[in-house]
Amino acid sequence: MKKLIGPFSQILTMEDLPLSGPLSDDHLIIIRNGGVVFDEEKIIKTGNFDELRKEVSDIIEISSSKVLLPGFIDSHTHICYSGDRSSEFSKRNSGVPYQRILEEGGGIHNTMKATAEASDDELVNSTLLRLDRHFSEGVMTCEIKSGYGSTLENELRLLRIINKIKSLHKSDIIPTCLAAHVKPKDFESNEVYLDSIIDDLIPILRAEKLSTRMDIFTEEKAFSVDESVSYLNKLSNMFDITVHANQFSSGAVKVGVDVGARSVDHLEIINDKEIEYLSKSDTSGVVLPGCSIGLGLPFAPVRKLLDSNCKISIATDWNPGSAPMGDLLTQCSILSSFEKLSSVEIFASITFRAANSLGLSDRGKISPSMIADFIAFDSSDYREILYNQGKMKPSLKCKRGKIYN
Ligand code: NIG
Ligand code: FE
Repeated sequence: MKKLIGPFSQILTMEDLPLSGPLSDDHLIIIRNGGVVFDEEKIIKTGNFDELRKEVSDIIEISSSKVLLPGFIDSHTHICYSGDRSSEFSKRNSGVPYQRILEEGGGIHNTMKATAEASDDELVNSTLLRLDRHFSEGVMTCEIKSGYGSTLENELRLLRIINKIKSLHKSDIIPTCLAAHVKPKDFESNEVYLDSIIDDLIPILRAEKLSTRMDIFTEEKAFSVDESVSYLNKLSNMFDITVHANQFSSGAVKVGVDVGARSVDHLEIINDKEIEYLSKSDTSGVVLPGCSIGLGLPFAPVRKLLDSNCKISIATDWNPGSAPMGDLLTQCSILSSFEKLSSVEIFASITFRAANSLGLSDRGKISPSMIADFIAFDSSDYREILYNQGKMKPSLKCKRGKIYN
């Protein structure tokens, strides 16, 4: 059944914008006094509300001023976990580095332990709550990584839970296998562990269709460049690839680009040669300001990455260690001030550019045939959204044609 919603003060359609490079707000297509016609699933048409109301009889009329944007997409999270690491947050703030805590058996290993001890129900419910909060803040498509399994069996358990959650939440969930996060304590070497992911986990993952995406944490304290290259080469013709790259040191951007990865994520430490290499590829860079905030480390150089014509999206990295906040819009606002990013650069990076980094072409714009995912903020000027630094939440949400207030 066709419906019309409006009139919106401004609709930011995000149409006709490039997938890479810098953007100025002058490039924005803004429909003023706009309406959107949609059905149970898709957007049919946008345009002037008064014109559209002549064609459509089922009308949802909005009373106050609102700015409409595509539903947000968080392309990098680790929200299926149990436990918290507040004691490590204090420890890091007293000067102990994240990597040292990991090396000494804490960090990711602590979350693996707490996650192993939690029941399936606990994990399902805590992940659903995080998705609820994300949804209330406008995030309607959410990637979720495994990666806190202390054994291969526990990794499979997390992937099965993430898949179960797909049918329990209104958001769209994209599961990613991050078995190659860090070597669980019981395996004798990285090589043995990576081989057993290939031999023992992948066949089950494929048979049960648990994920079409594989990730690895490429870093000295996790998996080396050489280990990552040999692992990813065995996977790249079967899966989409994404890499935790250049968080603490250079090297992994080339690994991701060479293997044709959809995205290389983090990029806090990236040199000019790597930026050029990335800009000449189809691989997206996903930057994670929540991680810089959580660890108190510099942001990825987003201004420079965009000016070098890279494809950039922004995600939360929501996890209990490096990025516990999980608030995409707040993080984007902070990043926009520090990296001098325009509103359209920010909104592109959490809508159609984020969709592209996940290989999705059916969302991220308010445009005919796109999924009817959109969010409205109580304002008549889109610039107020980032200016409010996360305090302004969407007052109306439409997910796949269904309205939530
Ligand atoms: O993207 N760096 C690796 N993985 C996560 C952190 C996971 C954790 O600390 O629990 C990240 O920052
Ligand atoms: Fe991450």
